[in-house]
Amino acid sequence: MENIAILGSTGSIGRNSLEIIDKLGHMFRVVALAAGRNTRILETQIEKFRPKIVSLERKEDAEGLRQKYEHESVRITFSQEGAEEVARFEENDIIISAITGINGLRPTLAAVDSGKKIALANKESMVVAGSLIQNMAHESGAQIIPVDSEHSGVFQCLAKERMENVKKVILTASGGPFFWKSRREMENITLEEALQHPRWKMGKKVTVDSSTLMNKGLELIEARWLFSLEPRQLGILIHPQSIVHSLVEMCDGSVLAQLSPTDMKIPIQYALTYPSRENSLLPSLDLSQVKTLDFFEADVDKFSLIKAARLALEEGGSFPIALNAANEVAVSAFLERRIKFINISEVVMEIVERHQKREVLSLEEIFDADRDTRLMTQNLLKERY
Ligand SMILES: NC(=O)c1ccc[n+]([C@@H]2O[C@H](COP(=O)([O-])OP(=O)(O)OC[C@H]3O[C@@H](n4cnc5c(N)ncnc54)[C@H](OP(=O)(O)O)[C@@H]3O)[C@@H](O)[C@H]2O)c1
Repeated sequence: MENIAILGSTGSIGRNSLEIIDKLGHMFRVVALAAGRNTRILETQIEKFRPKIVSLERKEDAEGLRQKYEHESVRITFSQEGAEEVARFEENDIIISAITGINGLRPTLAAVDSGKKIALANKESMVVAGSLIQNMAHESGAQIIPVDSEHSGVFQCLAKERMENVKKVILTASGGPFFWKSRREMENITLEEALQHPRWKMGKKVTVDSSTLMNKGLELIEARWLFSLEPRQLGILIHPQSIVHSLVEMCDGSVLAQLSPTDMKIPIQYALTYPSRENSLLPSLDLSQVKTLDFFEADVDKFSLIKAARLALEEGGSFPIALNAANEVAVSAFLERRIKFINISEVVMEIVERHQKREVLSLEEIFDADRDTRLMTQNLLKERY
């Protein structure tokens, strides 16, 4: 039996992970959980899975839970340090990293530093600190298994391949809810529409990123670090059915693809059970029902964040940090109804174009670049909207 910690247990990936762990009951035991502010869901998880340590974002929520569980043997802690403590908990064998955004970076680094197996969903960590994370994993011996469905697909395609034989990796994107809309129609998109993803049920931030296609841009950068690829080896194809998750073109002309039903439980389970596989409880993929698999080029003029992400991917240095920070600030503003949907890409594009590249090697330099870009983006939002 392996011990599991979940960073972001109350979110979409966290809850899906717990469902899988519950179904594969004989294989895993939950020992540590970290969440943000959703104490209601966290309490149900504590009662069902009996972890030994839990962390929340805020002190007041932790104190409330301490009173409630004072007779139980669960340590309750809080803040970023609390989430890091959960990530480093000595009994962990596997850590699922699924906190959204840069808030997941320090806990992810703590998990990587511990040298354990990491099931990585928090793509923003790889985007802003890919090189640092890979160096750290190399030193600690941590094994990083991707949870993102596209990267899980690439990982599976590459299982028996030599990297020098890989010509190109293509990540697919459903295209989100607005792929067929004209630029003009996109001007009036509401928050409710942006949160209705046609294929995947996910947290709000990643759902908005999917509708602007920034999610795919972030995934290109994530793939660059996960698989040590050059920017020119990475591409995107729109595939509305979301059945083929990625394609890997080999030097001999063969193209390997990974297909599965559109359900995050599949890549999450694979990351947990890797290198073995367990039976899935989901219905099998029936291509005779799917009938057609379509593929299109992404319209980078309409979805300009792909252009911004590609620029950041190619420039490297502090560019991906600036891209991510500007996007996190703009998406929060949209979720709070302070800006319109189309303003997200306008703001991020402008910040990336204005960005002055710095070399970033240390964690402090990453956080400095992140903080400066957030400030710049907030100022731009204040001036303009
Ligand atoms: N959902 C998917 O299908 C999917 C697929 C591929 C990759 N991903 C990636 O996985 C990550 C999680 O996505 P999600 O959809 O699960 O997001 P989500 O539903 O919004 O969940 C985010 C989780 O992070 C927690 N959290 C947020 N801020 C925190 C903080 N400061 N300290 C501790 N915990 C904090 C939240 O806690 P509370 O809710 O308690 O506040 C929640 O548990 C993202 O990076 C996303 O891009 C998601």
